[in-house]
Amino acid sequence: MKHLLSVTDLDAAAATGLLDTSDRLKQALLGREVRKLPTLRGRTVITMFYENSTRTRVSFEIAGKWMSADTVNVSASGSSVSKGESLRDTALTLSAMGADCVVVRHPASGAAHRLAAWIDRDAAATGTHTAIVNAGDGTHEHPTQALLDAATLRERLGSIAGRRIGIVGDVLHSRVARSNVFLLATLGAEVVLVAPPTLLPVGVQQWPCRVGPDLDAELPGLDAVMMLRVQAERMHGTFFPSAREYAIGYGLSTARAALLPEHAVVLHPGPMVRGMEIAPAVADGPRSAVLAQVSNGVHIRMAVLYHLLAGAPQ
Ligand code: CP
Repeated sequence: MKHLLSVTDLDAAAATGLLDTSDRLKQALLGREVRKLPTLRGRTVITMFYENSTRTRVSFEIAGKWMSADTVNVSASGSSVSKGESLRDTALTLSAMGADCVVVRHPASGAAHRLAAWIDRDAAATGTHTAIVNAGDGTHEHPTQALLDAATLRERLGSIAGRRIGIVGDVLHSRVARSNVFLLATLGAEVVLVAPPTLLPVGVQQWPCRVGPDLDAELPGLDAVMMLRVQAERMHGTFFPSAREYAIGYGLSTARAALLPEHAVVLHPGPMVRGMEIAPAVADGPRSAVLAQVSNGVHIRMAVLYHLLAGAPQ
């Protein structure tokens, strides 16, 4: 694996390999007083975030540190990006400083792919290699989120193949939804999307999933339901139901959660808008895997850095 830009770059064997490495790393660190492996000593990981983040940025930093890599954070506001430096110049500058991996989040869909193309062209001239990880590009993809969601589902349900997973809410603006649909389908799950018609993307009919019109009708048949964040900051003229209408039609209330089978799991990528997308009692209840997702995020990101910087696992 040279870069991680999209879940569509992963076939079932590659995705399962990352999940297995994540599990092994989690086991290796379990109960340790000092959570530190020497695996990436001497390697440099730079996180470059042009959009806000808590979970992804911090967990990549922790993942790097737990594997003894040197980690550096660059944010758009505190760097020369605020003076007008382009994404290309910033990335080539970081690569020239010896970054082994640049983890990038950017508001433009396709930014990570563009960056990887520039870095590869530069590498051909200089003989260096910098791996690019897509930590969320616009409304396009968020591959490590989908991987950590798959790790959590596999941990909670025992398997992914043959499971029915519902993804509910603002699919239109959700890179999490797109990455999850494609990764879960690759791993053999059946995916059902439920969303307000105005918050479904054009072309969703070509995605490997089904669109279900009625959340209450779908819930009893699901093994897991993933609630999405309503991305108010990306709504540019999209008709958006009021918060109250949204909660009534698409929010996971306590009454709605009771329609799920007993074994079913509730996920949310965060940050959660409590009361609208998900009732606090459900978010904090026994079915909720929200904090397990966050914790698995560190191990998945360790696995991704490991596969990218140390080669295939032994
Ligand atoms: N799920 C997720 O990407 O969260 P952050 O925006 O906090 O990184």
